[in-house]
Amino acid sequence: SKRVAIFISGGGSNMRALVRSMTGDHPARPALVLSNTADAGGLEWARAEGIPTEVVDHRPFKGDRAAFETALAECVAPHAIDIIALAGFMRVLTSGFVTPWRGRMLNIHPSLLPKYRGLDTHARALAAGETEAGCTVHEVTPALDDGPVLGQARVPVLPDDTPESLAARVLEQEHILYPIVLRRFAGGDRRPVMLP
Ligand code: GAR
Repeated sequence: SKRVAIFISGGGSNMRALVRSMTGDHPARPALVLSNTADAGGLEWARAEGIPTEVVDHRPFKGDRAAFETALAECVAPHAIDIIALAGFMRVLTSGFVTPWRGRMLNIHPSLLPKYRGLDTHARALAAGETEAGCTVHEVTPALDDGPVLGQARVPVLPDDTPESLAARVLEQEHILYPIVLRRFAGGDRRPVMLP
């Protein structure tokens, strides 16, 4: 089966949903959880699950993205990874890392791409008066939050929403969408999944 590396920076709730989904007849298995920060809450959970973990701290590289990405690639290499799933990984990856993984790396982003690339997606959606929001899983290309869409899930924006309440509603859908997309992707099916 396919060996999946999941990259995180924080609590890793999407990572947990992906790991939990990779059982039984699933065409992939979790083979590595990698974080750019040692205090990412998800690392401890992954260790307890018996999944190999790695930390590549970006800070010593002081903005030298090429050197950080070389270290990332060297860290991933021994794990014989087939697919990388970015799951709340909060470092921008440039073509030096992305290009060799083209077609084998996914990301989840908390907006209905192509709307609201980058950060603070929910605050921006609310400020714009959007009536719906959501999340997108896409193939990673060197352009930020771009690349072929593999799936989207939509939620309503409610009148009293704050960025936090909207984020929580979207995150629930992330935990449903990402496992569906990863399963299909690992099985070679790249047709977009649209939820609901
Ligand atoms: C998720 O909402 C994910 O879509 C978002 O960060 C959160 C991570 O939560 N990703 C980005 O903003 C990527 N730029 P998690 O650590 O609980 O999965």
